[in-house]
Amino acid sequence: MMAKEFNRMLVTAALPYANGPLHIGHLAGCYLPADIYVRYQRAKGRDIRFVCGSDEHGVPITIRAMKEGATPQAVVDKYHRTLQDSFAGMDISFDIYSRTSNAVHHETAAGIFKRIHELGLFEEKETEQYFDEKAGVFLADRYITGTCPVCSKPGAYGDQCEKCGSSLSPDQLLEPRSTLSDAVPVKRTTKHWYFPLQDYEPWLKQWILEEHKEWKNNVFGQCKSWLDNGLQSRAMTRDSQWGVAVPLPDTEGKVLYVWFDAPIGYISATKELTPNWTDYWCQEDTKLVHFIGKDNIVFHCIIFPAMLKAHGGFVLPDNVPANEFLNIEGEKVSTSRNWAVWVHEYLADFPGGQDMLRYVLCANAPETKDNDFTWKDFQERINSELVAILGNFVNRSFVLMHKLCGGKVPRLHEGCVDEADTLMLNAFRLTAEKVSDAIEHYRFREALFEVIDLARQGNRYLQEKEPWIVARNLAEKPSEQEHIDNCLHVCLQLCANLAILANPFLPHTARQMLHMMKVVERMLDWENAGKTKLLVPGYTLREPQLLFRKIEDSEIETQIRKLRAGSLRQPPPPTPDKSPAPMDSPIPEQAPKPTIPFEDFAKIDLRVGTIRQAEKLPKADKLLRLEVDLGTEVRTILSGIAQHFTPEDIVGRQVVVVANLAPRKMRGVDSHGMILMAEDTSGQLRFVSPDQAVPPGSAVS
Ligand code: 2FM
Ligand code: ZN
Repeated sequence: MMAKEFNRMLVTAALPYANGPLHIGHLAGCYLPADIYVRYQRAKGRDIRFVCGSDEHGVPITIRAMKEGATPQAVVDKYHRTLQDSFAGMDISFDIYSRTSNAVHHETAAGIFKRIHELGLFEEKETEQYFDEKAGVFLADRYITGTCPVCSKPGAYGDQCEKCGSSLSPDQLLEPRSTLSDAVPVKRTTKHWYFPLQDYEPWLKQWILEEHKEWKNNVFGQCKSWLDNGLQSRAMTRDSQWGVAVPLPDTEGKVLYVWFDAPIGYISATKELTPNWTDYWCQEDTKLVHFIGKDNIVFHCIIFPAMLKAHGGFVLPDNVPANEFLNIEGEKVSTSRNWAVWVHEYLADFPGGQDMLRYVLCANAPETKDNDFTWKDFQERINSELVAILGNFVNRSFVLMHKLCGGKVPRLHEGCVDEADTLMLNAFRLTAEKVSDAIEHYRFREALFEVIDLARQGNRYLQEKEPWIVARNLAEKPSEQEHIDNCLHVCLQLCANLAILANPFLPHTARQMLHMMKVVERMLDWENAGKTKLLVPGYTLREPQLLFRKIEDSEIETQIRKLRAGSLRQPPPPTPDKSPAPMDSPIPEQAPKPTIPFEDFAKIDLRVGTIRQAEKLPKADKLLRLEVDLGTEVRTILSGIAQHFTPEDIVGRQVVVVANLAPRKMRGVDSHGMILMAEDTSGQLRFVSPDQAVPPGSAVS
């Protein structure tokens, strides 16, 4: 089939549920590949919009609300902010990050449902569904657990067994129970609106199996298997108080199924973003691309397109590049076991480290099969690829240019350009083409490999040319300066190219490189990729900044300990462990305190201390007993941080201590001081500490 001509693009990334924070599996699954793709397309000058937002309806939210003793709205408000902050911290460049609890979305989703209803396309059916008599509610699939009929393991849900991955219906569960009250559920009659997917089967077969053979194997394969097995009607409404109300008379207590409303969130977000939203959704020359994780394939490739087709007037996705899953240290991510690397924690532990994580997650992305993230691999890739290859090449080029070429871009002396120079210069264009082709076809790992490989070639070239050796003989052979100039000219033009090629993957690094080269952002336009005359000879460049730092063994050990310690704790750390916490804001509201005179502040003796020992206090869930070195003495201090840190994680840390607080007895132990803590957006406590080690006992003022 001829490739279609597109004039604009709309890229979506799966709306994450606002029932918990973001982990690195989410990033690797869809947000990072989507961001790389979009940054590349923007650099190509395409008309492109990138939309996402929080998925705020559905059973997981109501379950989380019940667990936290809060309203669903309070839960989504809190996690919406947390998710947004994590995306911003990772430089994921959405044009809009919206949410499905807002009014535009409710109107849009209700409107689409109504239209399909008016077209007479829904089937209204009364069926028997499980009802929890104790809780007085119909049980959505996720509220029912039982034994899986496929693998015979207990704990399967009414829609899926997470042990063997089988897709189930509640009727198939053996010995079903309500997760709300543990009651044995009974059947009751209820009415719902069903979408007859089977009516769209012939069209879907043609559209996917004939017209989209180019989709990734994992995506195409899953679609084929659904279509080969035959589609059935699916209920598009649920009995619940939380969601988009069914826009029909006499439907109190009924809402749209979350998988009906969530993908419409892409449309609502675009509406919010631009008054020209119909250009992106209703013009045939729009290329729509959905980035998702593999668990979302059926919804984006079959159900949502069939809904849009039924409604009419909307574009359909040109591609749905779904990734597989990212495991952590050999085990599946489990939020309930807290086996995850949380993005907000990573960003707190590695400030400014977003590009390091982007690099590792892309280099090791689960593009074709499930992959594993290990902290050891994180360290190795950063130290031996980012630091030793990319960072090293750029740094050497700049240092040598300052040393051997007076801090200016040297000119290229055409007369003595040799084969190595020519090969190196030609490699810019070749790599740019390979990177382009790989990104256009959603092969981001390969694209990133090509970028690093170009830097590797740069290192080899520099090593071969050895301009620092040539420089030793300049007194005898001043004409050799031309060879030095040529080598560094080529290296610096290569640095400019590396900034352009790395930009979609490592945007922060690319900007640091622009700063060093004193060039404007427009240099990053993709049309410059492959060019060999980007930096003007004679132009003065800045001193190099180190682009990446080495990751020490101790940092990795801390992370591994944290992961293992966290997995023993329930619920996961990002859930604030306070009761009753104000649920409508992720940052606990604190009324401003009255102004105090300086003399009052001066009465407080704040000191830096080093934690020498830490242990749990028996029979106290929240308290750790710390032995804190204040230089002239070691104090016993009790601190209410046991649910946030394990003792081994904090020994050796520097903290700020209120050293002249009157002693206080807790659980029979005298506490001589207080440790200052801050709380992050997810309720996790953080130490307040100096940014570099200082001698214990140092005054804080
Ligand atoms: O799997 C999930 O996390 C869903 N919240 C994804 C929804 S994507 C889209 F349809 F909104
Ligand atoms: Zn099973």
